[in-house]
Amino acid sequence: MKKTLILNGSPRRGGDTAALLERLIPMLEGEIRQIQAYDGIRPCIDCRACQKSPGCAVRDGMTAVYDAMGECDNILVASPVYFRNLTPPMLNILSRMQVNYAAEHFHGTDLRGGRKRGAVLLVGGGSGRPDLAQITANILLHQMNAWDLHEPVLYLDTDRRPAALAHELDGALRSVADFFNGQK
Ligand SMILES: Cc1cc2nc3c(=O)[nH]c(=O)nc-3n(C[C@H](O)[C@H](O)[C@H](O)COP(=O)(O)O)c2cc1C
Repeated sequence: MKKTLILNGSPRRGGDTAALLERLIPMLEGEIRQIQAYDGIRPCIDCRACQKSPGCAVRDGMTAVYDAMGECDNILVASPVYFRNLTPPMLNILSRMQVNYAAEHFHGTDLRGGRKRGAVLLVGGGSGRPDLAQITANILLHQMNAWDLHEPVLYLDTDRRPAALAHELDGALRSVADFFNGQK
């Protein structure tokens, strides 16, 4: 059975990212674990405990991300664009991937589980480009051992029309679902 991890970078529970996920999630087969980046995930503080023993010494919302990373088949990075990049808590998650570097370089181990498929879903109001967000999302996916990537799904016009009304994206959402379900 497929396992999909969704990292939701939006602070708005009923917002644009949520509206698109609401349409995507029912199309996904298997187990789905959605983690809200705004729910208590702190940034890496470079305490260097991961250099002494593998894994992160900080216990917070990130523990669930590490657990899911070890066993999932697919990862979706879903976020609003903030100042052309992902939102700050998504950058917190990225910073906490430093454990993977330490595991490999100081302990010769790999905490990331098997190679995964990945996809990126970004929404923006239209005030700035999503270029840095796309690059950062790809770095995050690579850090989590997701290398087979679907093309990004972007909706960058939410100031004029909420994503809930953007049904022209339904084909792209279906395509992500087929990719994650292993149907292409
Ligand atoms: C702090 C902040 C920075 C933003 N920066 C951008 C930006 O650079 N480009 C853009 O298109 N939209 C930007 N936006 C608009 C949001 O991306 C947009 O409202 C989005 O639809 C919110 O998604 P959500 O409802 O899922 O949280 C920004 C919004 C905030 C609050």
